[in-house]
Amino acid sequence: MAQLRWLGHAATLLTFGNKNIIIDPMIKNNPLSPVKIDYFKNNLDIIIVTHDHYDHLGDTVELLKMNPKAKLYATYDLEAYLAETYKISEESIIPANVGGFVEVDGIKLALTKAVHSSTHSDPTGAIVSAEGITVYHAGDTGLFEDMKLIGEVFKPDYALLPIGGRFTMDPYQASISVEFIKPKKGVIPIHYNTWDLIKVDVNDFVKLVKTKGYNPIVLQPGQTITL
Ligand code: NI
Ligand code: MN
Repeated sequence: MAQLRWLGHAATLLTFGNKNIIIDPMIKNNPLSPVKIDYFKNNLDIIIVTHDHYDHLGDTVELLKMNPKAKLYATYDLEAYLAETYKISEESIIPANVGGFVEVDGIKLALTKAVHSSTHSDPTGAIVSAEGITVYHAGDTGLFEDMKLIGEVFKPDYALLPIGGRFTMDPYQASISVEFIKPKKGVIPIHYNTWDLIKVDVNDFVKLVKTKGYNPIVLQPGQTITL
């Protein structure tokens, strides 16, 4: 069974069978997180980091120490920086960059382009595919037309899109990106209302997405859905 749990902001937990994949795990500094960091002791298999801004890198290093068998998936440059700085072992790293699928424990992973900034390496989005379900997490990004290619190549069932504006797409821009990505089953807004700087009315996004014939899924922080 495949499940998605939104942890608030960009942090997302995907579960395929007995495999747990966390994306952009800001837990401690996440005012929306429904759980404390100890919740993730010895139960994570893959940690995906789209870029190294603190609200996405989050507690990655601590979670890797708490989960000795977990593997880190990010651009190789960011992985190498984290490995050297925080003494993370080579075995904990899945070397990667924007491109084709890498398969780990039956989970297919890919990194995508994102239009944003970061300190070490380039920012990305991430694709996670298993059990015939493909999820696209856009990371932090502005609107860009190559999202059409992400839609064509990966054919996502679900897309998690930042809508908070200011640092990423806003509700209007994100609704345009939905037409590029064409998520078959649903589109989940993220990266909004965590702080005042990214305060938006999610209903603006919902209305626009529905008008375009797609399925908006607004989650409460901590809410789990079956994919
Ligand atoms: Ni960012
Ligand atoms: Mn961010």
